[in-house]
Amino acid sequence: MQEQKTVDGLDHLNTPTDDVILAIQSMKKYYDVGGGFAIFGRGQHLKAVDDITFNIRRGETFGLVGESGCGKTTTAKTVLGLERPTGGNILFQGNDISRMSRSEKRNYRTNVQAVFQDPWSSLNPRMRVRSIVAEPMEIATSMTKGQITERVGDLLTEVGLNPYQANLYPHEFSGGQRQRIGIARALSLNPELIILDEPVSALDVSIRAQIMNLLVDLQKEHNLSYLLIAHNLATVRYMCHRVGVMYLGRIVEMGETDPLFDNAMHPYTKALISAALPSHPDIVREEIILPGEVPSPIDPPSGCTFNPRCPMKIGDICEQLPPKLGLEETNHEVSCHLYNSSLERAREAGGGAAASLSAEPQEAAVEAD
Ligand SMILES: Nc1ncnc2c1ncn2[C@@H]1O[C@H](COP(=O)(O)OP(=O)(O)O)[C@@H](O)[C@H]1O
Ligand code: SF4
Ligand SMILES: [Mg+2]
Repeated sequence: MQEQKTVDGLDHLNTPTDDVILAIQSMKKYYDVGGGFAIFGRGQHLKAVDDITFNIRRGETFGLVGESGCGKTTTAKTVLGLERPTGGNILFQGNDISRMSRSEKRNYRTNVQAVFQDPWSSLNPRMRVRSIVAEPMEIATSMTKGQITERVGDLLTEVGLNPYQANLYPHEFSGGQRQRIGIARALSLNPELIILDEPVSALDVSIRAQIMNLLVDLQKEHNLSYLLIAHNLATVRYMCHRVGVMYLGRIVEMGETDPLFDNAMHPYTKALISAALPSHPDIVREEIILPGEVPSPIDPPSGCTFNPRCPMKIGDICEQLPPKLGLEETNHEVSCHLYNSSLERAREAGGGAAASLSAEPQEAAVEAD
């Protein structure tokens, strides 16, 4: 029997198992954006996702959070097979999706479904709800018409709609109801993993909690795994067991949700949290204003890509040596030279350049924190 993990402070969530359903290993997605001397093979690349590694366990919600443009949707599209990764591996239940046979790929497409931010653009406006929800079953199963009709009714009930609404078109629903239709469609093939790309961002604040609670209930009921992509920290904090914070295509901090929010380590995570509304009006927080804009992923800064904006930068090392993500505390990884193990990891990987840089200023900066 598998050991169950508990997640402090997230009592409304289920307890995921240790069984890894999706493993992302050093995944990269670079877009060729021309420029340079493409004829000599030196065209420019936009590094939308640049070497990210994380796991999602069965029954778990893993969140990816970060500002617009940091690579969240590209990660989702690559996992869904809508984009081909430039490097790295994607393993579903231990099988590399790039090496799957046709039938294994079909199985993967059944087991991994998606719900997108904007139900308007993801639901065909000319199709009745019945057809929208039935379509995946018509394509991927040998169910009879009667069985499909019955299942459509059950699915609509399960997401809080009424089976008679199957006759209606998407425009006859509110935003929240349309997202429920999208969820019913995503559930239709009994998937094991659902990619939720900003599933509540387009909804009125009053509706968001209802949809989040529906997703949490469905997860418990079906032991679903979610990859939840969001820029809103409150959504991530409420729904996720674990979180990865992305900046310029990389994960800079990763850990269990409550410890990560309560004890953020990376300067970028600290700034993100400081800029979010506190969960209670009595909580006073000083906002960390980051200077400048997010740099271009076509020509990211050398060393730590956050260094031009980092309020805690500690000198040359930050400009010269890319920090590596690694364990800093139990289940809490960070990629920053403020933490000694990052320097050790970089030394192991970088050899000479790393060894020539002193660790001294690092200690001074930690004291100043
Ligand atoms: N098809 C594409 N071609 C070129 N660049 C792209 C493409 N799709 C996304 N990008 C770029 O990749 C980066 C990451 O985008 P995206 O994954 O959509 O970010 P997020 O979802 O975090 O807002 C952005 O700089 C974006 O402009
Ligand atoms: S490595 Fe340096 S620049 Fe990067 S986040 Fe840490 S302190 Fe800031
Ligand atoms: Mg996006």
